[in-house]
Amino acid sequence: MSAVADVPSLLRDAVGEAGLITDPADMGRYLTDWRNAYSGRAAAVVRPGTTEEVAAVVRTCRDAGVAVVPQGGNTGLCGGSMPDDSGRQVVLSLDRMRRVRGIDPVNQTVTVEAGVVLQAVQEAAAAEGCLFPLSLGSEGSCTVGGNLATNAGGTGVLRYGNMRDLTLGLEVVLPDGRIWNGLRGLRKDNTGYDLKHLFIGAEGTLGVITAAVLKLFPAVRSRATAWVALPSPQAAVDLIGIVRALCGDRLTGFEIMSRQSVDFVLAHRAGVRDPLDAVHPWYVLVELGDTLPDAGLGGLLEAALEEAFERDVAADAVVASGSAQVAELWGLREGISEAQNFEGPSLKHDVTVPVSSIPAFVEQTDRALQKAVPGIRIVTYGHIGDGNLHYNLSKPAGSDDDDFRAVAEELARVVYDSTSSFDGSISAEHGLGQSKRDVIADYKDAYELELMRGLKQLFDPDGLMNPGKVLPREDGVARAE
Ligand code: FAD
Ligand code: MLT
Ligand code: ZN
Repeated sequence: MSAVADVPSLLRDAVGEAGLITDPADMGRYLTDWRNAYSGRAAAVVRPGTTEEVAAVVRTCRDAGVAVVPQGGNTGLCGGSMPDDSGRQVVLSLDRMRRVRGIDPVNQTVTVEAGVVLQAVQEAAAAEGCLFPLSLGSEGSCTVGGNLATNAGGTGVLRYGNMRDLTLGLEVVLPDGRIWNGLRGLRKDNTGYDLKHLFIGAEGTLGVITAAVLKLFPAVRSRATAWVALPSPQAAVDLIGIVRALCGDRLTGFEIMSRQSVDFVLAHRAGVRDPLDAVHPWYVLVELGDTLPDAGLGGLLEAALEEAFERDVAADAVVASGSAQVAELWGLREGISEAQNFEGPSLKHDVTVPVSSIPAFVEQTDRALQKAVPGIRIVTYGHIGDGNLHYNLSKPAGSDDDDFRAVAEELARVVYDSTSSFDGSISAEHGLGQSKRDVIADYKDAYELELMRGLKQLFDPDGLMNPGKVLPREDGVARAE
């Protein structure tokens, strides 16, 4: 076994000079996440350019007993892509593996390397008259590898599913350095256990994903978008029912935002304005899409809104009249995450409950949070069509950041206990990473966790593939994201 100190020179043999960073100043951007919420130290950052180089890196690290932390765009919200503070781990960035290996419009598939940025996949698909429907606020920076490793969701799940649903095949370097080539573009393949699903959502703890075959769809050629003001979450749930009944699977987006969320964006994002004159407690952004260029979506959406007004479900609404207004409305939605950063620490909670439980869940959770910290600013928004709310919290206006951080664990417990009381999940789409790896032990069945530990042991008996992520430590405590 080689010493940790030898690892950088061994890695140089594996990837060459261009693929290795050891200067602390140059490593900086790989050692802090997008929000500056997590940071770590590393023996080296290694940037292989091919799958074979990834395999050589993993073998080198295994032989030296050094842990590997796979990293994509570093936009994850749970600290999964960060090394620990020891300075002994190696960050394996996929940022040189950015090739679209092939696109097959007839088979409706695209084969991409893990470091390809999500937006580049969307653009490659569009160039062939197709759609790759995964859509996240971070799509200009996050990568396919990170999307797969976190089983990313976003705003298109309602219609097209999450990353797991959009994946047909994978290529993975296992913790022993062997390459599994499962890059098949088949829609039917019942030849035993479906191994790709073990790596999707594993957050880099079972292997390094190097490439994937993803599903494409016909391009959407007409859209209609509305911003709807509502009195309550119950009204939002009622509105989903109305839109579904009238528009069927043309419903492609249904995002909820509390007034607090909108206020933060209006305060901190240039070029956005309140689409309506009066202030309302809740809003949803509704989007319809169709593959036909002239599908009459405007009329359908108007009809749905008319019914919503008649039934006192909607209080006011504006239907976007052109692409600039559509972009402005989506800017209000997509800007929430960033805007909240200007208001002190964002305590993020990414939960799901059944859609039918949302109204009671919000009422119970808000009450408990206000009791815990009077004046707390509750930034509730998200993919309500999937039952997924981002229950983000900001300190009471004018109060101290550290006082708020001090109660973060208590507040996370309030949100998670409430989620659990509705049979929900404490991580809908962001994963567990390091922020929720411990607290999950209190909300997931012990036998399920035992099975997960068994899989980890089988794939990674030395525990060198992204250690300290996903699986609970024995002495774990609760944290917000
Ligand atoms: P990273 O942050 O680099 O890594 C995330 C995890 O994946 C880590 O555990 C890492 O070790 C692992 N990993 C990365 N690459 C590989 C690989 N090749 N092989 C194995 N493991 C790997 N997420 C959503 O689901 N829905 C949203 O709507 C959404 N909106 C967001 C909006 C903003 C503004 C931001 C900043 C983030 C948002 N996210 C959202 C979270 C984040 O963008 C996603 O989790 C994304 O999928 C992470 O991709 P990444 O390339 O940045 O991965
Ligand atoms: C989003 O949907 O905007 C993100 O998943 C949530 C977040 O950034 O907190
Ligand atoms: Zn989200």
